[in-house]
Amino acid sequence: MPAAEVRGVVLEAGKIFDPVKEAETVGVRGMIPEEGGKALARHRLDDNCERQLSNAVNVAYSMSYTFHAMSSFFRRDDVALTGLGKFYIKRSTAEREDALDLSRYLLRRGGRVKLMGLCQPKMNYDEPSKGDALYAMELTVAMEKLQYEKYLALSKAAEEAKDMELQDYVCTKYLHPQVKLIKKHSEYVSQLRRVGKGQGTYLFDRVLKSKMK
Ligand SMILES: [Fe+2]
Repeated sequence: MPAAEVRGVVLEAGKIFDPVKEAETVGVRGMIPEEGGKALARHRLDDNCERQLSNAVNVAYSMSYTFHAMSSFFRRDDVALTGLGKFYIKRSTAEREDALDLSRYLLRRGGRVKLMGLCQPKMNYDEPSKGDALYAMELTVAMEKLQYEKYLALSKAAEEAKDMELQDYVCTKYLHPQVKLIKKHSEYVSQLRRVGKGQGTYLFDRVLKSKMK
């Protein structure tokens, strides 16, 4: 049986992979950087994917910050929609956990996490036609849709870089749940539009709170 050549490595006949020989041929040094400051684990992580992952971390933190602000508003004693207050602090915690998970993933892949500044959340709850709860929930749907676009951009970057592992991670962990979140929040918008401000919103808030116990 003739010897086989795989990726420039001459292997014994009938063999398809010799890890030691191949690692030596591609250069162990090439695979594992020796210079300080470079991640040893980094393997096939595209620069654009690294950037987009870092952006996703910052987007999740910004969402968390905004939901925190919303929760603080609904928990005010002159607003006292405590169901929404609880709902938004849970959303805030969930987004912060997503930010941490994305950071951990990026570090696992040998990337670097670059945290940016957060914008002060500025909301206008006084819009007379909607009322505070509907205004907040409509804003939430819009923000979740924007976040979906960011995750989609990350998934597209992974596709372009042929990084199937990253694509699978984004799709399973972020795109699928994001679709469910958009649907759930859209239903809340419909319910708030149906019940109106005042007593209707108060009842919506009570039901929301009872569901979270
Ligand atoms: Fe989200």
